[in-house]
Amino acid sequence: MARVIASLGKGGVGKTIISAMAVKAFSAAGLKVLAIDADPAGGLGLALGLPTNRTVNDIRMEIIHSIKDGLSNKPDLAASLDYHLLDALVERDHVAFLSVGRPEEEGCYCQLNTLLREAIELLSRGFDITVVDAEAGIEQINRRVMRSVDTLLLVSDTSLKGMRVASAIAEAAKEATASGEALFLLNRVQPDEEPGKLAASWGHQVAACLPEDDTIYSYDRQERSFLDLPDCPAFLALNTIINRLV
Ligand SMILES: Nc1ncnc2c1ncn2[C@@H]1O[C@H](COP(=O)(O)OP(=O)(O)O)[C@@H](O)[C@H]1O
Ligand SMILES: [Mg+2]
Repeated sequence: MARVIASLGKGGVGKTIISAMAVKAFSAAGLKVLAIDADPAGGLGLALGLPTNRTVNDIRMEIIHSIKDGLSNKPDLAASLDYHLLDALVERDHVAFLSVGRPEEEGCYCQLNTLLREAIELLSRGFDITVVDAEAGIEQINRRVMRSVDTLLLVSDTSLKGMRVASAIAEAAKEATASGEALFLLNRVQPDEEPGKLAASWGHQVAACLPEDDTIYSYDRQERSFLDLPDCPAFLALNTIINRLV
């Protein structure tokens, strides 16, 4: 059955690298994977080493122009939206990739998020698993972009701020997603930190604790593809929950 997971949380806590490692793990398990970079700031394509083709925002602009020029009407475009979305995918091995892109003008995010929500719903049906790397914060939950997400990965580093943001997102998601299954992930746990104590101060059961890991850091800095990541400690820690989801 097609399943959609998304990683959410504060900026800088590790959403993108966790999304990239999840994509790698699912594709290694032989699943047909769709990776969606839902963050207008980008990052997932780079982490996977995949180029961006047409973005969801490019498609939005083409729709606007063709309506303006009288070349098309809305029902036609709605009928061909899945064609345009499929055409925008970049593929390598078992992985397909789509990026949301970024509008040039302020105030277009609402429209873009609506199209992104449709893109997730339309495209995910053709894949075993869809991994969405969300924008930092709560906006895409409030805008119902994550409506069809089955499993939310709520990511935090070991800071109270990171935990607070992830908890607030989890609370808002109860109303704004299909199943609202939430898995809490602690990332960048240092050797001298106790996962039990951190989980207690967070107030959630933690599904996985990913240690601070030099391999992750250097892959990211050197812009190497996480699809080629070896079995490092953070990846193995994430794999425990990935295996449960497969
Ligand atoms: N477990 C980890 N070990 C070492 N570095 C990490 C780890 N998780 C994240 N990082 C580093 O933290 C930074 C932010 O991670 P990123 O995934 O881009 O965060 P986000 O997408 O939430 O903004 C990156 O430089 C990344 O390499
Ligand atoms: Mg990111």
